[in-house]
Amino acid sequence: MITIAISNQKGGVGKTTLVYHLGFLFARDGKKTLLIDSDPQGNLTSCFVEDVPEESNLTSLYDKKSLKPIQVEKNLNLVGTDITLSRFEADTKLENFFLLKNFISGMDHDIVLIDTPPSLGLFTSSALLSANKILVPMDISRFSVLGLGDLLNSIQKIIKTTNSPVGILGIVFTGIDDRLNLFKEVKEKITREHPEYVLETYIPDSVRVKESISKKKPIFDLMEDHKISVAYKNLYKEILGRL
Ligand SMILES: Nc1ncnc2c1ncn2[C@@H]1O[C@H](COP(=O)(O)OP(=O)(O)OP(=O)(O)O)[C@@H](O)[C@H]1O
Ligand SMILES: [Mg+2]
Repeated sequence: MITIAISNQKGGVGKTTLVYHLGFLFARDGKKTLLIDSDPQGNLTSCFVEDVPEESNLTSLYDKKSLKPIQVEKNLNLVGTDITLSRFEADTKLENFFLLKNFISGMDHDIVLIDTPPSLGLFTSSALLSANKILVPMDISRFSVLGLGDLLNSIQKIIKTTNSPVGILGIVFTGIDDRLNLFKEVKEKITREHPEYVLETYIPDSVRVKESISKKKPIFDLMEDHKISVAYKNLYKEILGRL
């Protein structure tokens, strides 16, 4: 079982959209896949269901109740959540940091993808502690570039203090207009600083992504040959090659 946390403390960089699409690609490639929404915003959850049953809500884990994923497609299961999870955001007693890791270790899946909130609190830390690999989506804004150092430092800290074998799967640029010089500049800078992390595939900017999310369908089910569909599939292949 490989557990991948999709993480960046910067908001709105495409974490949830990435987890959503990669989930389908893993599942349709015959891998038993579990998606975990660890963001009290519940955005990933709302891509699949209106209301998540209590027994499949991550909140139950922190409430010390039983937790069971729901099936959302063949080979694709979901532990969802909603705003009730935010009750535990500040409850940072040590045992809470390991609940997610323990839960995942009892699961029988090929791939677990964890969507994380835009912060470095309990839920992101728990996801990083649970993961074998971390995938970092980032846009090319100045704030993202500045925040990358903080994220990588937090990851290093977690690796050191917990002796965790977690590694960085890669950095993927999202929401990209590749006509912009800024993209080339940022990509070059990040590649210079972290040559082993930057993934070749980037996800272009397109309004079609919003359409696909509002229709509760992955973009490749709506527009198979669209550049975004092609990009997600290429990214999937590149990720497989790194796992
Ligand atoms: N490639 C893209 N092109 C255009 N819009 C996109 C793209 N990817 C995501 N979006 C849109 O950008 C917004 C933010 O995306 P998303 O919710 O996936 O980011 P996030 O990092 O999960 O945000 P948060 O930090 O709040 O959880 C959404 O409205 C989404 O539809
Ligand atoms: Mg999100």
